[in-house]
Amino acid sequence: MNVFRLRLMAHFLGFGGYVPEQIMTNADWAQLVDTSDEWITQRTGIKQRRFAAPDESTLTLAANASRVTLSDAGLDARDIDEIIVATDTPELYTPDTSALLQEELGCRNIPTYDLGGSGCAGFVQALDVARARIAFEPRKILIVGVELISRMMDWKDRATAVLFGDGAGAVVLGPEGSRARLLDVVSGTEGRYADILTLASGGTRNPFNELTLASGDYNRIVMDGRRVFIEAVRRMSEASAQVLDKIGKKVADVAMVIPHQANLRIIEAVGKKLGLSDDQMYVNVHEYGNTGSATVPFALHEAVQKGLIAKGDLVLLTAFGAGFHWSAAAVQF
Ligand code: ACO
Repeated sequence: MNVFRLRLMAHFLGFGGYVPEQIMTNADWAQLVDTSDEWITQRTGIKQRRFAAPDESTLTLAANASRVTLSDAGLDARDIDEIIVATDTPELYTPDTSALLQEELGCRNIPTYDLGGSGCAGFVQALDVARARIAFEPRKILIVGVELISRMMDWKDRATAVLFGDGAGAVVLGPEGSRARLLDVVSGTEGRYADILTLASGGTRNPFNELTLASGDYNRIVMDGRRVFIEAVRRMSEASAQVLDKIGKKVADVAMVIPHQANLRIIEAVGKKLGLSDDQMYVNVHEYGNTGSATVPFALHEAVQKGLIAKGDLVLLTAFGAGFHWSAAAVQF
């Protein structure tokens, strides 16, 4: 008998998200660096983003999104069997944010881990890991995508700073449920492109020290915007087509795509490549900017909350991030 045929499928039990209250508009950025609302809107579609208050941190953002998600799922923190936190902006260098979240939420002494460094692809990659864990042994997994990038980035670099916002999104996956099933996931990495999007200081190659501080390199995000654009469009559209192929469905069967919210032009180009209309591509980048690994779970939560997804809808989630990593997931509501 083929045991793989007996595997348990992952179901979505709850959706949630949290963004800080403080709004930073394009006009606010134009007061700080040489930019304009017109430039940012034309190039990215972003109009505003949220920035965390001084008393907030990655952990508080993650905990707020987790509590909304647990409540949506009708679960207590003690019902959770595992936690995965996808973030590139952790609470501390070590230990990981997931350990702190386990304590903060009051979970049992369950296994927890961070998926870090994969940039904005982290959350969808985490879905891929979690579904395999559930297939092997039934468990309820809290998966959080969270970034507090405003505190880590170079505020003087107009080429990158205006793109980002802070936020968190989460889901609970479990072996049984009636809301939505995670049908399949496709993930990939091309490390050859590590240098097109990187924050290269702070690791063992370039430790954070007085030299990196003096050079201003400690928070410099190096991004080849055009290369990132091309790879993002290619990888998200190819992965979306591949996951559809795996489940034996066609683009015509798709009700909505919830893509990583980095940039409106990237989202529109992915829609065009797939042959979907603009209104089938979920967009909230104008309101929140690029919140890294939080964009997909937050947008998913928002789409569910607004009643934009009906029972029976096939929804694709897709993301790309530094690495270069990418993932696409097929979700049946
Ligand atoms: N305001 C005004 N001018 C700016 C700004 C700004 N905020 N930033 C850059 N410029 C200038 C540049 O200095 C350049 O000036 P120059 O021609 O005098 O040299 C000019 O605008 C054009 O710069 P380009 O980088 O060529 O602009 P481009 O049209 O490629 O747009 C952008 C830049 C928006 C970053 C685009 O390349 C893009 O969308 N790339 C994808 C990157 C992305 O989405 N990254 C997401 C983060 S990572 C992730 O989500 C995984």
